[in-house]
Amino acid sequence: VNGVHVIDHPLIRHKLTIIRDRHTGPKEFRELLDEVAMLMAYEVTRDLPLEEVEIETPIARTTGWTISGKKVGIVPILRAGLGMVGGILRLIPTAKVGHIGVYRDPETLAPVEYYCKLPPDIAERELIVVDPMLATGGSAAAGIRFIKERGGTSIRLMALIAAPERIERLRREHPDVPVFLAAVDERLDENAYIVPGLGDAGDRLYGTR
Ligand code: PRP
Ligand code: URA
Repeated sequence: VNGVHVIDHPLIRHKLTIIRDRHTGPKEFRELLDEVAMLMAYEVTRDLPLEEVEIETPIARTTGWTISGKKVGIVPILRAGLGMVGGILRLIPTAKVGHIGVYRDPETLAPVEYYCKLPPDIAERELIVVDPMLATGGSAAAGIRFIKERGGTSIRLMALIAAPERIERLRREHPDVPVFLAAVDERLDENAYIVPGLGDAGDRLYGTR
């Protein structure tokens, strides 16, 4: 599972195209991002370990399977990562949710943490960090670093769109973190926006521009 995975299921490609369209407003953008996150969560959790359990159906005793091992934690990077939490929670309703706020210092370009609230038992959880955009990768890399500093060990990253030249840098800093994407785009523009991308994910999600 370690590595970079592009989940290009037809439903995801279809919904992502509508998400990218500049004419798609915040209501539809939110709904579709939520749906894509749910579809991606299906693949992102494919390797979760199972254990056998004995149950009784109305007809007979039988053995079935239950997810075993570590419990799941979802960690959105604010703001835009919030748009992917609901879809994952619908599949994994018992997951705990931590929040990390990161902004980029306009002078130094260094990622600055402005908020962090994580479940106390993150060391025991299978953590899914979510952020739709992996542009320079700075925000995601910093978020993962903050989680590791607080004891998180088992981490995977789920994003929507990445710029190709930056995925490798993130992988070098966090080689233990598998990356799941819906698409890899062409490049970054001079303002570090992904081309063609979808614009500013936070603004499109919340209508702040
Ligand atoms: C966006 C996006 C990522 C980041 C990606 O957030 O949600 O967190 O940019 O860029 P990077 O890979 O170059 O770090 P933004 O900084 O716009 O904050 P917001 O979500 O609060 O609007
Ligand atoms: N952040 C975004 O929201 N979009 C981009 O294209 C790059 C960074």
